[in-house]
Amino acid sequence: MHIPDIIIAIDGYSSTGKSSFARLIASEFSFLYLDSGAMYRGVTLYAMENGFIDDGNNVDTSGLATALRTLDLHFTSTPEGSRTFIGDRCIEKEIRTMEVSSKVSPIAAIPCVREFVDTRLREFGKKKRVVMDGRDIGTTVFPEAELKIFMTADLEVRAQRRAKEMIAKGEPVSMETVMANLRERDYIDSHRETSPLSKAADALVLDNSGMTLQDQMEWIRDVIRERFGEMSD
Ligand code: DC
Repeated sequence: MHIPDIIIAIDGYSSTGKSSFARLIASEFSFLYLDSGAMYRGVTLYAMENGFIDDGNNVDTSGLATALRTLDLHFTSTPEGSRTFIGDRCIEKEIRTMEVSSKVSPIAAIPCVREFVDTRLREFGKKKRVVMDGRDIGTTVFPEAELKIFMTADLEVRAQRRAKEMIAKGEPVSMETVMANLRERDYIDSHRETSPLSKAADALVLDNSGMTLQDQMEWIRDVIRERFGEMSD
């Protein structure tokens, strides 16, 4: 199946499987994939390592704003996925820890951080044939995206998936801790002032609580056939 040169924007709640789905879409349709959350996680790691956020999640916003002017945070996108770097240091593993997860939502709520990330995401989008996942891709970063998907799933299903993923990576974590973190991130992400998580009016909702990745791929193939007609055959 062939799709025209479009941007596919995938937004939704934490741990709904956006990245896995986006990665598979990219590989099936030869698109570039970018995980925008990784950029927010990268800024968070940088803020933690440089004393811009404390244990109580209080942020030195003006100090961070100044530091962002020279921060070299960037990513590479390969068919296997995107990788995030500070300078030439790959931070892909460090940005997935529970500690970063517990600090990323307050950092992502800061307007100058969003501006910093948005500039880089929009630059990447110029390449077209891009699938990007996040919280505000279809609403703020690429409101003109040709295909927008809003993903959701039951909280318990999401927590189970996330806990399994973390245990597999060697970071044992309890279901309670993961559920509490997801609940808190959902709340902060949906209630912040700048670009809160919300469904774009023209986004299609995908509740994947009871779906496998293969079911989701079937779903998107149908959507693409319907949307782009014979162009996609
Ligand atoms: O997708 P993720 O869990 O890796 O994202 C980490 C955090 O980054 C998430 O709690 C909210 C924030 N985020 C955002 O505000 N906007 C995006 N486009 C992507 C992520």
